[in-house]
Amino acid sequence: MANSIMEHYIEDLRQRKAIAEGTAKDIEAQHSKGRLTARERLQLLFDPGTFTEIDSLVMPRSDVYMGGKTSRYGDGVVTGFGLINGQHTMAAAQDAAVLGGSLGEMHANKIVKAMKMAIEYGCPFIALNDSGGARIQEGVDSLGGYARIFDANCEASGVIPQISVIMGPCAGGAVYSPALTDFVFMTENSYMFITGPDVVKAVMQEEVSLEDLGGGRVHSQSSGVCHFLTRDDRECLIQVRELLSYLPPNNQEDPPYIRPLDDADRRCPELEQLVPADPYQPYDVRRVISSLMDDGKFLEVHRLWAENMVVGFARLNGYVVGLVANQPMVLAGCIDIQASIKAAHFIRICDAYNVPIITLQDVPGFLPGKDQEYGGIIRNGARMIYAYSEATVPKLMVILRKSYGGAYCVMSSKGLRGDLLYAWPNAEIAVMGAEGAVNILFRNDVKNAPDPAARRKELVDDYQRKFNNPYVAASRGLIDEVIEPRDTRRLLIRGLQLTLSKRERHVPRKHGISPA
Ligand code: HXC
Repeated sequence: MANSIMEHYIEDLRQRKAIAEGTAKDIEAQHSKGRLTARERLQLLFDPGTFTEIDSLVMPRSDVYMGGKTSRYGDGVVTGFGLINGQHTMAAAQDAAVLGGSLGEMHANKIVKAMKMAIEYGCPFIALNDSGGARIQEGVDSLGGYARIFDANCEASGVIPQISVIMGPCAGGAVYSPALTDFVFMTENSYMFITGPDVVKAVMQEEVSLEDLGGGRVHSQSSGVCHFLTRDDRECLIQVRELLSYLPPNNQEDPPYIRPLDDADRRCPELEQLVPADPYQPYDVRRVISSLMDDGKFLEVHRLWAENMVVGFARLNGYVVGLVANQPMVLAGCIDIQASIKAAHFIRICDAYNVPIITLQDVPGFLPGKDQEYGGIIRNGARMIYAYSEATVPKLMVILRKSYGGAYCVMSSKGLRGDLLYAWPNAEIAVMGAEGAVNILFRNDVKNAPDPAARRKELVDDYQRKFNNPYVAASRGLIDEVIEPRDTRRLLIRGLQLTLSKRERHVPRKHGISPA
């Protein structure tokens, strides 16, 4: 008898949970859009069989909110915890089958609860977004829910890694939760916008498609909102797992160390060919990174945006490091507004999560021009200085070739408390290039010479001999050593081993004020 009563209860529970999981029609509707369901996504994201749902029986306060439709358990979002690469992680996945994944009061409560748990237990939080935004029927309760999510995002910032994954629509102010997190992934089949095509048409009298307004390409290449653009749901979730393999669970712990297979003493003679001696010849700095890092592996962040600056994660002798490198292949590696913003954000992430920063410099200077000045290169360049100065993680740097002017100062220099700075023997470290310097310093000298061209050449050669080398900086201790390119990997590893125990503290303050 007792057993049959229990069976009744269990059957009742099962029926409720089956309702929460949705119908075959719901699942088919989502598949027909080329997308997976919330639960399928979570199964792929987490280590097999480890995802554990919570709050599956949460419901909206009133059926009125469901627009007269039968309410369903879960309120349009699946939350829970599990393991990713063996590390505890919390997640929320919006369920597009319930009122378009729109966010109501209880839906928001579930997300905020999961975020607070992630902060409390020190584990990463991942949001899988697929939603029509604020649930229209719930009005201000829905808007209030967003505000609480934003607040939790800010509270979690720099404490636990936060990753947003956009796998469908992400409309209206809803975009601000992803924008407050550390990394944003988008699939090709997703979009983010503040004001949709209808509003753009009404206000601006302009026809624009969803993809053109806020598709994955737009946010990866133009706005910089998206850090990783992926083909579809599956590829996206695999990449999220890969990114997490470089991050610690929280700011109190170190990133995951992996016993290295690559030799710590490995010489890299190929570097001598990879970087052309001719300072005007471009090359792909990613090849230098691959040559230096363990097993040639590099996870590039923000790959399609501000391509003149390359940032991303790799391992050096098993330890996770963050790379910040000028890319001579794009704009000759000059620093511009977008590159400054990109580098500053990445440096702050590395600093927050105890990831040492390795800077590879080959930079002719800041990008000149009216666009840059009007766009605020002063304000935005300052962000990068601020980020480097603020960072207390080990900061190692190698000058591969050019290191000119302001660009020298702002990228991990001694003045910004760079820990170990190396330069290759071909490095050019000076206020500006020889041609520019002679134009300013010796204008009259050249003009009045019997043979101006010959005099000019003589002065340029002289300047180059005196200043365009690493030895002036080495003689002042502004770089710590001039090294052979082939020794770069082993010396970076030795430097990293030394500096991993670095203890640097700031004077207490409420917070600094990073340039706007
Ligand atoms: C309630 C919604 C909804 C919403 C969609 N649905 N969005 N219900 N509130 N915001 C419902 C639809 O009525 C429909 O229900 C189901 O979800 C699927 O929607 P479809 O339109 O059929 O899907 P699709 O064609 O894929 O289009 C998806 C969409 C579109 C582009 C997202 O639904 C849309 O434009 N929704 C409104 C987007 C929006 O403007 N949101 C408010 C933004 S303002 P049925 O029953 O028919 O299946 C905002 C403020 C946040 O978010 C403020 C934060 C600070």
